Amino acid sequence: MAVAQENPLLEGLESRRAPDDCILVIFGASGDLTKRKLFPALYSLAYRRLLPEHFAVVGVARTEETDDEFRDRMKEAVQQFSRDDFREDVWELLASGIRYVALDFADENREDRLSKTLTELEKERETGGNRVYYLATPPAVFETVVRAVGKRRSGQGWVRLIIEKPFGHDLASALSLQKAIEEYFEEREVFRIDHYLGKETVQNMLALRFANGIFEPIWNRQFVDHIQITVAETMGIEARAGYYEQAGAIRDIFQNHMLQLVAITAMEPPIDFTADSVRNEKVKVLRAMHTPGPKSVVRGQYGRGYIEGEEVPAYREEAGVDPNSMTETYVAAKLYVDNWRWADTPFYVRTGKRLARRETTIAIQFKRAPHPPFEELSAEPLKPNVLIVHVQPDEGVSLAIGVKVPGQGMTIRTVHMDFLYGGAFRTGLPEAYERLIVDAMLGDATLFTRIDEVQEQWALVDAIVAAWARDRPAFPNYAAGTWGPTAGDELMERDGRAWRRR
Ligand code: BG6
Repeated sequence: MAVAQENPLLEGLESRRAPDDCILVIFGASGDLTKRKLFPALYSLAYRRLLPEHFAVVGVARTEETDDEFRDRMKEAVQQFSRDDFREDVWELLASGIRYVALDFADENREDRLSKTLTELEKERETGGNRVYYLATPPAVFETVVRAVGKRRSGQGWVRLIIEKPFGHDLASALSLQKAIEEYFEEREVFRIDHYLGKETVQNMLALRFANGIFEPIWNRQFVDHIQITVAETMGIEARAGYYEQAGAIRDIFQNHMLQLVAITAMEPPIDFTADSVRNEKVKVLRAMHTPGPKSVVRGQYGRGYIEGEEVPAYREEAGVDPNSMTETYVAAKLYVDNWRWADTPFYVRTGKRLARRETTIAIQFKRAPHPPFEELSAEPLKPNVLIVHVQPDEGVSLAIGVKVPGQGMTIRTVHMDFLYGGAFRTGLPEAYERLIVDAMLGDATLFTRIDEVQEQWALVDAIVAAWARDRPAFPNYAAGTWGPTAGDELMERDGRAWRRR
């Protein structure tokens, strides 16, 4: 892909890793993810010349469509969702390698259409037999696709399998999917997506902790009072009722994104930044988390309310949702990581749809200064130091510190020392999928979840969900556009703490 790089400010900021030539096969090509995330990511990679020299993409879905129709739809998607300007020359280069195959997996014979297209394309684009299969279908067909792809391994070139979340619906189904995968693929060929790991700000958590000498010595129970992690969305469930009714906030966000954020915050320094070293440390954290008691987990469901001044319906009024649905759209929990570093240090986590603001943050709240000599002279009680990682939006890091208010006396006020990506690098941040697609092509699984992590995550979620079977909360219990049910606030208030409000 030879497209000139024109922005000199990008110099030094882009990775120069070059993946091998390959074909990317996307199953679920008529879905939302392909349109909103995958093609815009591929376009941005083409824009920056980060795709292999010889490259092609095959979209596979059930809908009948010609190559041209598919290309046109993807072009529109790129124009609508890409973070970069639309350039015809960049698109044409990418589009010349795009094909579409209509395929119903229930119909075995027609799979050969895919094999035929791949063989032809391999010759035409000189991709050397290397294939990345991306499973972006509804999870119900993951196993079928894995088997179909596995049976047709050609033996030529390498194969990589990217699997979207959710990886199973519970521990048992995750293990069954894993079993099917193991029949055909080795763990090093499997890339389980948790797109939060592809976010710059999440990776920066590792840089912040392990590339700076000043944080690690105080990153433990002796100096940290507690940790708060918020994954708040203003969005509702869009058109995903079918999926969300089964998943709820606990399977949609808590099981994966949230627990990964906890793992990255709590993990020990890995000996190097290789897939196994990083994941070994993360899985230890997940293993050290014990099941929270019923009082330490709160669930909620939104009722009608206002988001940015507009009235929005209750969850039970959304299209496709059962009017008596007991699916939760909010979860908060107090978690403990039972190890030497974190024993007795609570990790308060919360996530929800239709909350007051879109915000993902990790806040490390330190213990108060032991003996501030001037406390009685301050207008308000001295606040503790907090290190806040703004995962999104307003990506950056800020440190809350107490300073003297200028003038007479000794009044102390909290101010923030801020690092903002926008200001420091003067460039937009790459989308998580850009990073993850290239990493999978390179065979680098560092930012993907390993099966033992997934197992631990499900074990915790299964235990929480089992306890939920015993009671029926009165849903809805929070209005859209608020910060969730009052029980969520009480979870912290009981401990004499409170959720941060910016
Ligand atoms: C997905 C969930 O994994 O993450 C969605 O299925 C959620 O429900 C989305 O909206 C949030 O991702 P992001 O990158 O917008 O924070």
